[in-house]
Amino acid sequence: MTALGKLDSANLNGGQKLAVKYFSVALVLFGAQVAFGLLAGLQYLMPDFLYGVLDFSINRMVHINAMVVWMLFGFIGSVYWMLEEESGIPIVGLKFGNLIFWIFTLAVLVVVAVYLLIQVGPGEQSTIWLITEGREYIEAPRWADIGIVVCVLTVFYNVAATFAKGKWTGIGGVLTLDMIALFAIYMAGMFYTANISIDQYWWWWVIHLWVEATWEVMVGCIMAYGLMTVLGTSRKIVETWLYIEVAMMFGSGILGIGHHYFWIGTPEYWLSIGGFFSALEPIPLVAMVVHAVFDSGVNKMRNTNHPAMGWLIAQAFGNFFGAGVWGFMHTLPQINLYTHGTQWSASHGHLAFFGAYATINIAFFYIVMQKWRGNVWMSGGLFGGWKWKWSMLLLNLGMVGMTIGMLVAGYEQSQIERAIEGSTWSGFFAAQSHVWFQQGMFWREVFGGMFAVGYILLVWDLLTIGKRETRAALSASGKR
Ligand code: HEM
Ligand code: HEM
Ligand SMILES: [Fe+2]
Repeated sequence: MTALGKLDSANLNGGQKLAVKYFSVALVLFGAQVAFGLLAGLQYLMPDFLYGVLDFSINRMVHINAMVVWMLFGFIGSVYWMLEEESGIPIVGLKFGNLIFWIFTLAVLVVVAVYLLIQVGPGEQSTIWLITEGREYIEAPRWADIGIVVCVLTVFYNVAATFAKGKWTGIGGVLTLDMIALFAIYMAGMFYTANISIDQYWWWWVIHLWVEATWEVMVGCIMAYGLMTVLGTSRKIVETWLYIEVAMMFGSGILGIGHHYFWIGTPEYWLSIGGFFSALEPIPLVAMVVHAVFDSGVNKMRNTNHPAMGWLIAQAFGNFFGAGVWGFMHTLPQINLYTHGTQWSASHGHLAFFGAYATINIAFFYIVMQKWRGNVWMSGGLFGGWKWKWSMLLLNLGMVGMTIGMLVAGYEQSQIERAIEGSTWSGFFAAQSHVWFQQGMFWREVFGGMFAVGYILLVWDLLTIGKRETRAALSASGKR
């Protein structure tokens, strides 16, 4: 090991070196997400801004596509990060994994460049193949879809072959099965049908079954590893919780998909199925909070990496509030009738994606920096420790502010457009031009700015944290 505090890839194993590449791209794309979000938000306030140059539809698309890709890159990075430690052997076929990383990254760049260069045009077969499929969140054209499938198959091969050759742990088993589901479901979003109801039906398989089933389980695995690393929680405890959470998550999340089938032309029985099962979805999320808080309590909050621990706790609460509480608020059909597709959805979407998935990735960024710098001290009295605290504060406050801004606008839309005006076309405009809507959108942008400052501080912190530290990390409180 080299000098403490110095960035040195000799501190990392093979999988971790690859993980660092995935994390770097993830952090950059996170920045792109923020930038395009601010642009899209500004266009709500000034509709003419960049019209015909960089349209709202494009900014919005890049904003949310960057999000999906950075989070997936973060997950893949986390998996590579823990793979050798979990399986006990070097990664099988790592050179393919390395190669695929470059192809994957290049493909992402090409897709985004095409989005920006060809913003309008006819919707033909060639459009679907070369430019965009037009399916929100997974707009990537079909050539990229196929490429993505090849890339993730390679990642999956690395993971499955390594565990098969080394040893299977509880985390490893859940992770591998989850990856099969996560990647297979992606294909449900690749088929073209001319019927919009059928198209939406399958599209939700990807979106809903990702974020409310397979991604949650992925995060469960990453959290389990994170708690062992940062808190020194015993494997027995984290794996027991993991099994319970997975069972509950799949139990409620799979049929919970019905909350997207209320109004798209699917049979009426989805009203009861969706209402009932999605109302149960907050339960596993409560279990996750209890889990994280319980583990920290048992350890008397003694941990090896304060920033990572802070973000792991933020994940537990963010997931619970963003997904559990904000999701539950509009999941019953009687309520969703009024809130569907208003800023309520955007309010929930922001808090949930941030709370559940941005947080855990940020926690991992800190775990990475600690090891990359030779396992330096990252507990109390950290040199320059104000940076991670301020960035954490600004990011979380910024997100909460945006969420509230959108919620106010969403309430106003539900009331005026839906309840009073009866969902008419003129009702839509009455709601959009109301001062409460506009104020909500204004404050969303202000707090978005705060979030962006938090992001810049985060990047600065990640680049410098531990640099001037000479103390070795506190040892994790050990096995219990
Ligand atoms: C981390 C997990 C979750 C994430 C990331 C997430 C994200 C989202 C996003 C982005 C949308 C908007 C989709 C669109 O563009 O149309 C949405 C819609 C919705 N979510 Fe979630 N969600 C999560 C969990 C939940 C949970 C647990 C519930 C219920 C308890 C829920 C209930 C809903 C409902 C009912 C809608 C439809 C809103 C509408 O009718 O417009 N979500 N979610
Ligand atoms: C930095 C400040 C941000 C601003 C100003 C911003 C702004 C926006 C805007 C204007 C939209 C389009 C909403 C619409 O069509 O009505 C949007 C959509 C979205 N943004 Fe952001 N955003 C920001 C950060 C984030 C972050 C950090 C996340 C998640 C980690 C996120 C997740 C989403 C999602 C999931 C959608 C789609 C919501 C839906 O379909 O309902 N945004 N954002
Ligand atoms: Fe859902």
